[in-house]
Amino acid sequence: MHVILLGTPGAGKGTQAKLMMVQYRVPQISTGDILRAEVKKASPLGRQVKAVLDAGELVSDELILKIVENRLHERDCRNGFILDGFPRTIPQAQGLDGILKRMGEMDLKAIEIAVEDEAIVKRLTARRVCAECGQMTSVLINPKDRCENCGGKLFQRDDDKEETIRNRLRVYHENTAPLIGYYQQQGVYHMVNGLQPVDAVFAEIQRVINS
Ligand code: AP5
Repeated sequence: MHVILLGTPGAGKGTQAKLMMVQYRVPQISTGDILRAEVKKASPLGRQVKAVLDAGELVSDELILKIVENRLHERDCRNGFILDGFPRTIPQAQGLDGILKRMGEMDLKAIEIAVEDEAIVKRLTARRVCAECGQMTSVLINPKDRCENCGGKLFQRDDDKEETIRNRLRVYHENTAPLIGYYQQQGVYHMVNGLQPVDAVFAEIQRVINS
């Protein structure tokens, strides 16, 4: 199974990718998670990209393509992968086409989780992440400051401030939305309604994967 999850920031790509990982036993490759881990470690890469992430802008295509190509060659990607947050620009999509060609033929599906912008602002200002296990939640579901899964401390992502969210949406519409046409032309594009509850979105994704 080789899937690209498309969608605005906060559409639910990470939430669905985690469910898909369990169901289909393929890894989630989230370029956002990879970059945030580097920022947390304060590695040279992390120091290079921190300001870009905090502003909600995009890291360079060249850097992202290098990270993804290395990751796709790891052993656990042999039976498939879920790309979450990549590609985000037409040059990244073209770069991915080249990588996949070098890796051999594969059946690819690009699934957009569609949610309108105002719902996104509400979701993301309410999002909290567990510092211990990484589980995502929302203050609308769990108003406490502790994770319901492991008891770890919940925190708000630096880029989940309203002003930054609106900039991330602008960046998405300018740079990433054109990928919908790109994958429609390749005949691999599918859309699911991301405004439904999490399990209903997952059921729609499963129908697309099994089709
Ligand atoms: P990244 O981490 O990829 O952020 P994003 O695309 O903005 O996506 P999010 O993680 O915010 O949202 P999501 O769609 O995963 O939603 P989630 O499941 O969390 O990127 C961060 C930054 O890294 C970028 O801004 C950029 O700087 C850089 N970057 C990353 N990749 C890059 C690339 N390829 N090129 C260049 N730069 C790159 O859900 C959100 C909330 O909604 C949660 O609280 C969740 O509980 C809730 N929720 C989920 N589903 C539902 C539902 N169905 N109903 C109600 N609530 C729901």
